[in-house]
Amino acid sequence: MKQVAIQIKNVIKEFPSRGGETPMRAVDNISLDIYEGEFFALLGPSGCGKTTTLRMIAGFEEPSSGEIIIRGKNVEGVPPFHRPVNTVFQDYALFPHMTVLQNVMFGLEMEGVERKEAEQRAKEALDMVRLTQYERKPRQLSGGQQQRVALARALVKRPAVLLLDEPLGALDLKLRKAMQYELITMQQKLGITFVYVTHDQEEALTMCDRIAVMDKGLVLQLGRPEEIYETPKTRFVADFIGETNFVEGTLDTFNNICATVRLDATTTIDATPPAGVELEVGQKVTVAIRPEKISLVPDTGAADSEAVSVEAAEVMQAIRQEQNKTFIPGVITFSNYIGTDTRYTVRIGEKTDLVVRIQNFGTRYDTRFKNGQRVMVFWATENARVLTS
Ligand SMILES: Nc1ncnc2c1ncn2[C@@H]1O[C@H](COP(=O)(O)OP(=O)(O)OP(=O)(O)O)[C@@H](O)[C@H]1O
Ligand SMILES: [Mg+2]
Repeated sequence: MKQVAIQIKNVIKEFPSRGGETPMRAVDNISLDIYEGEFFALLGPSGCGKTTTLRMIAGFEEPSSGEIIIRGKNVEGVPPFHRPVNTVFQDYALFPHMTVLQNVMFGLEMEGVERKEAEQRAKEALDMVRLTQYERKPRQLSGGQQQRVALARALVKRPAVLLLDEPLGALDLKLRKAMQYELITMQQKLGITFVYVTHDQEEALTMCDRIAVMDKGLVLQLGRPEEIYETPKTRFVADFIGETNFVEGTLDTFNNICATVRLDATTTIDATPPAGVELEVGQKVTVAIRPEKISLVPDTGAADSEAVSVEAAEVMQAIRQEQNKTFIPGVITFSNYIGTDTRYTVRIGEKTDLVVRIQNFGTRYDTRFKNGQRVMVFWATENARVLTS
């Protein structure tokens, strides 16, 4: 059984609005459990309530209503320094007049830890973040080094939970990648629960065990990275995480596992219906399909198809016979070579454009399509998902 480290129960946070009447609701009734040892992400666009949520866990804000329980204890009214959590702020908030070592020792000395022991522990924490410039002042350090000091200062208190608010936001891409890797390694080694705030979907996908996707103070979806990416429940989540085609249509027929969606008079596609949602024939729906889940082959039957290889014809024959697939003609209208893969825009039916990503394997089987070329477009039904909200 996984132990719950932090329980957030029906938490609402309202701030008085400047006008005075209706207060501004920054966090709108969220409930979630964060487990011991978990690397948990709060992900969402600017202003969605991530920092406010983190500050309530840390004790810098109190909820307007609801409860926060840390390791089985309701922390209402408990000040930040008495909670078993520590925070790494986005701006690091280091003391400019203190050296690296003094910055890291400071919290321990405030707690009354004896000087020698404080120094010993501070050095251990700095060792963990691989920093040896004990005597430098923050302004003599690079952004990445300052970030490490901030991290060491939080780790030195040996918190059960570490709260990190966009800790890598100020770093350049390369350093950010390196620090991401270090944070993951450190989290696994120490077994500390991490609550990690970010608006960077890639960061959340690659680093975290579970992600809560937030918007406008609400948690829209909570799950493992692959659940959030592969089966987004709403258009907002599908759009926020990665790239997605949204195809508009009306529901023609459906059963539990397959919905046929009409795009225009002559074109239908198949997709997976949402679980636990009532559908109605004729209702307007959106189908979400990731660009990398769509495949293309040259249309061997098309009049303009130039010397289509025997291989391609065989591949197409095999695909046509596979079950649970949409397999329809299309025309390449745009192609964009981006090295690792090529992005095509393909028109299907009368007016529907799909973005398709094809990886450039660099083998003799590689097919690069030209603008205007007729192709067959296909995807597995499970990879296209009907969204109703
Ligand atoms: N002390 C405050 N007083 C009034 N409104 C606040 C206060 N703190 C936050 N807010 C408002 O609450 C909402 C959520 O803010 P929050 O800082 O939690 O967002 P965020 O998700 O961390 O965004 P960002 O990614 O930009 O940091 C925003 O609309 C913000 O303006
Ligand atoms: Mg914030």
